[in-house]
Amino acid sequence: MNMQEIIQDKRDGGELSDEAIRFFVSGVTDRSIPDYQTAAFLMAIVFRGMTEREMTTLTLEMAYSGDVCDLSGIPGTKVDKHSSGGVGDKCTMIVLPIVASLGVPIAKLSGRGLGFTGGTIDKLESIRGFKTSIPISSFVEQIKKCGMVLSGQTPELAPADKYLYALRDVTGTVQSIPLIASSIMSKKIAGGADAIVLDVTCGAGAFMKEESSAKELSRAMIRIGAIAGRPVTCVISSMEQPLGFAVGNALEVQEALEVLSGKGPSDVEEVCCTLAAAMLRRSDVGRTYTFDEAYSAARETLRDGRAASRFLAFIQAQGGSLESDGTPSFTEQSVLRSELTAEKDGYIKTIDALRIGEASMRLGAGRKTKEDAIDMGAGITLRHKVGDYVRAGDILLSAYTGTSSELGEEEILDALAIAKEGISFSDAAIEAPKEILAILDENTVNPF
Ligand code: URA
Repeated sequence: MNMQEIIQDKRDGGELSDEAIRFFVSGVTDRSIPDYQTAAFLMAIVFRGMTEREMTTLTLEMAYSGDVCDLSGIPGTKVDKHSSGGVGDKCTMIVLPIVASLGVPIAKLSGRGLGFTGGTIDKLESIRGFKTSIPISSFVEQIKKCGMVLSGQTPELAPADKYLYALRDVTGTVQSIPLIASSIMSKKIAGGADAIVLDVTCGAGAFMKEESSAKELSRAMIRIGAIAGRPVTCVISSMEQPLGFAVGNALEVQEALEVLSGKGPSDVEEVCCTLAAAMLRRSDVGRTYTFDEAYSAARETLRDGRAASRFLAFIQAQGGSLESDGTPSFTEQSVLRSELTAEKDGYIKTIDALRIGEASMRLGAGRKTKEDAIDMGAGITLRHKVGDYVRAGDILLSAYTGTSSELGEEEILDALAIAKEGISFSDAAIEAPKEILAILDENTVNPF
């Protein structure tokens, strides 16, 4: 096998053999293929795409390029959840306690954020003492304590994806359905869950800008799951505007707790209860539930305190500290630095999630490179959502940094200017957008 020929084959629109794909993945894993050839091959895939067989082979080769978690010590069907990324996406911190409080064992491996999207591991690390590196050998013990465990991905899990993802991030090759589908599904297969629920985000702050491409990505992942024997449900959710009001690590943990206590923003609650319902229906507990029954069961845990107390028990089980009032204790407090106000009366037409994510990153909430440190207290809180009517002078959003931030006033104003670019107004009334665009599974997509 010769990498140069494989690149040329794909460049010219050819269909690669399983052997060629195997050669590529093993060469990426043992670093025998240089980055310039890998990057050229990835770009050829971006332009030429992949057939379903190529994509499935790529996924399985990547899934088995390192360790595969054995969760068989945890009784029952294990259901995993993953999001294709977004701004203000605090769903994992809400969905997992909901489902765990209903008796479904949860073992999840999560990632860090890069660029404008946040990662659950970073968010939870804003809690003093919280441990995000739990060895898989301790999962069963941890689940006995509070029914759920969450850990950062180990370097041994799907190492080919880890390497490819970092290279894609800097070579303009993230935006490709076969590459995204194989990246997500390889990690999920290696994570060892029996069934998978995917939040496929769609809109300005997501990789998939259009509903049609979100559906295409969903169909690809459902088919790969069927071939790998891991049933997949895809919930396509809107990411035109940020989810909820809070963007930034500690700010999002606080909002997650509000949702868990039944007092959070309705958009976050709707997306989380939909994801939780999809997970329940894949579990031993809720297999016979209709979607509405599963949704109501999930919602009930937010109203009666079960989900909130499960979240707090989980924080403590993983070493996190609580304040005397029972809320999480943060490593950094969020300090209000500035506010953006409306210049005229009108209905809010857009709050571009990408711009808000970029502004929040400028304030210190995200990292540009994997090595950057994060300001856990930094971020943005919105006062309004699309469809709201505001008057000139009303506060649209607030900018925060942590107590130890060294950002000057000019940098804060630069961040607010980016956020402002993403907000537009209309004189005519604007309807609040739909949160859930579609739910797809093997019954709505022919898996073969
Ligand atoms: N999330 C992933 O894990 N991989 C991608 O390629 C895109 C989003």
